[in-house]
Parts: sequence; structure tokens; C-alpha cells
Amino acid sequence: MNILLTGGAGYIGSHTAVTLTEAGHQIVIFDNFCNSDKSVLDRLERILKKRLPLIDGDVRNTALIAQTLEKFQIDTVIHFAGLKAVGESVDRPIEYYANNVQGTISLLEAMSLVNVKSLVFSSSATVYGDPQYLPIDEEHPTSATNAYGRSKLHIEEMLKDVANSDREWKIICLRYFNPVGAHESGLIGEDPNGIPNNLVPYIAQVAIGNLEKLSVYGGDYPTLDGTGVRDYIHVMDLAEGHLAALNYLSTNPGWIAVNLGAGKGISVLEVLNEYEKASAKSIRYSIEKRRAGDIASCFAKVDKAKKILGWQTKRNVHDMCASGWLWQQYRKNLP
Ligand code: NAD
Ligand code: UFG
Repeated sequence: MNILLTGGAGYIGSHTAVTLTEAGHQIVIFDNFCNSDKSVLDRLERILKKRLPLIDGDVRNTALIAQTLEKFQIDTVIHFAGLKAVGESVDRPIEYYANNVQGTISLLEAMSLVNVKSLVFSSSATVYGDPQYLPIDEEHPTSATNAYGRSKLHIEEMLKDVANSDREWKIICLRYFNPVGAHESGLIGEDPNGIPNNLVPYIAQVAIGNLEKLSVYGGDYPTLDGTGVRDYIHVMDLAEGHLAALNYLSTNPGWIAVNLGAGKGISVLEVLNEYEKASAKSIRYSIEKRRAGDIASCFAKVDKAKKILGWQTKRNVHDMCASGWLWQQYRKNLP
């Protein structure tokens, strides 16, 4: 199949590009590099021994998307492109709605113009808001506590309307839990700008010596060791989830949402411990007060992915930390 990856130069998109290419699909990357670097194309070439075609553009450029869909005879689009920092979305909501919601509208306009009606959308566990029960299944009520989450919810709802309006559309919303880790080569990985907000990129910076210590946000949650619990998923497992979603879409019209997680909660201290083992470094930390807006625990029920997509995770938290550490060491020497 010919597949367009919007935001394909980013963290999850680049790993998915590897998995899909290795499965025999023809990939085209469409990215404006607002949160990624063009050198990822060189590194993908080293992994794949093949240069992936790139369109440097913004998804809000409807004409350019339509042109790209036609030029490469695209069958399916995977829509990763978007802004994703929760805190930033609270300060700059207009940018988030413009990029995420308007970007998706532009993509849908282009797709319907040239009659490409198959779409995988990068959604998030954030659409569940504060969990009312655990593990979280796809029937859990949705809500949003910030502009980022609300942009994902708006898009999911919009996509449902589109699928209801025309039976030719095939749309799957993949609700990712907490993606971490890197490709086993260590040549691509997560590359956040500035001081990381997320746990594993922050731990990596402490391990490599760029940051002094990790602040563990809260040691008094009602969890096994008092620290926050999340469902961490290896980014290569996540990439394989996209491959499974494409297979599902090929025969299933309509709209569906599916959780992609490991289905298991891991605490901050457990992650820290695994990262110490993987990196053979001692990682300094202190327990601080809870971060505003955080929840105690969040993990997925993954039965639907297993049943409908025939997919489940294969890698464990050690694999996540070991691959992440390999990438971290490679990344420190990048220009
Ligand atoms: P990322 O920032 O690494 O990748 C996003 C890519 O999209 C970047 O390369 C960026 O340059 C590009 N982009 C952004 N706006 C664009 C636009 N208007 N036009 C063209 N390109 C644009 O993020 P990621 O972690 O790879 O996330 C991919 C998707 O998955 C996002 O939609 C994100 O919201 C979603 N998601 C991520 C996580 C996570 O923790 N990483 C969790 C749940 C959902
Ligand atoms: N944490 C720390 N110290 C840090 C960073 C995080 O203790 O420096 C803790 C948090 O309190 C939480 C856990 O590590 O208990 C995970 O935090 P992350 O920031 O890595 O991830 P979140 O689960 O808070 O949020 C992530 C994405 C959101 C997305 C959500 C659900 O950042 O965009 O997962 O998918 F909405």
C-alpha cells in the first residue's frame, strides 16, 4: 500500500515509518518540521537502506496535501501531525486548535477532494480525562482537562461525523497510552526540545549528565510505592499497532477507537529502577509535591486491540529503557 504519514518525521511517525517499510509498504513523509529535524530522514535511510520520499509542508496547506495524495497514489493516511505539549496547550490554546483541529479539517478536505477515504488518527489516552475506573476500556466516558486533550476529542468526534456521512470512509482512532523507548538501532528516538516534561526523557537527561536530578512528582499516591502509575508502551510495539490497524482498515468501513497500551501499570520508581539497570548509572531523585493536574494511576484495557487488531505488546519496560538509553548516547553526539 502507499501510505502518507503526516508528522512522519516525529517520534512516533519515524518509528512507524520503519515498521511499515519493513512490512513492504511504500511510505511518504509529510512534515513541516516544527517539532522534528530533517536529519531523521538520513537516519531512517541508514536503518532502511532506502530514502523515503519527503514533502516539506504544513497539513493546513490543503492544496499541497491533495497534490501529494494524487502524486503518490496514496491509499491510506496516518495522521500524526499535531502539537502535543499539555502545559503549552493551556497557555496557547489557539495554536493548538489551529494546528490540531484545523490541520485535520484541511487533511479531510484534501482526502475527500481526491477520494482517499482511509485514515488512521493518533489519538491519546488523554481523551478519558480523570479515570473513573481502571483499567480504562474504550467505553470509558471521554472528557478533557486541557486544550490539547480537547483538540483530540474534537477531532475524534469530527471523524465520527465524517464516517457517518459516507459509508466509504474507514477511520480508526488509536488512543495511545505512554509511548517510550526507541528503535533497537538507537539511530532514532524521542527528541524533545529544551527541558523534557515527560518522565522517561527527563530520566534520560539525568542519566546522561545533562540534568542534576529527577523530581518525582508525588510520593503519597494510593499506589504500590506512592508514586504515579502509567501504562508505558514501547514505541516499536506502538508502530506495530499501526500496521495491525492498517490491516483492519482494509476490510472495515466506519469509525472505531482502540486503545494501544501494554495493559499494565508501572510506577515512577519502577521506571527509574529499570533505567538505572539499563544505563548502569545511578540516577539521583527526590520526592517532591504532586504535579498539578496529575492523576494517580492510568492504564489500559487492551482486549479490544487484541481481538479486533490481533495485536498486543511484545516488549517490556527493560526493552524500553535499554533502547532509549542507546538512542540517548547516539543523540548526544548529533549536531
Ligand atoms: P512529535 O512532535 O515528535 O511528532 C509530530 C510531528 O508532526 C513533528 O515532526 C512535527 O514537526 C509535525 N507537525 C506538527 N504540526 C504539523 C503541521 N501543522 N503540519 C505538518 N507537520 C506538523 O510527536 P509524537 O510524539 O510523534 O506524536 C505524534 C502524534 O501522536 C501526535 O498527534 C500526538 O498528539 C499523538 N500522541 C503522542 C503521545 C506521546 O506521548 N508521544 C501520546 C498520545 C498521543
Ligand atoms: N513524572 C515525574 N517527574 C517528571 C515527569 C513526570 O515524577 O519529571 C511522573 C508524573 O507525575 C507521572 C509519570 O511520571 O506520574 C508520567 O508522567 P509523563 O509526563 O511522562 O506522562 P503523563 O501520563 O502525565 O502524560 C502523557 C502525555 C500526555 C498524554 C498522557 C496520556 O504527556 O500528553 O500521557 O496519554 F495525554
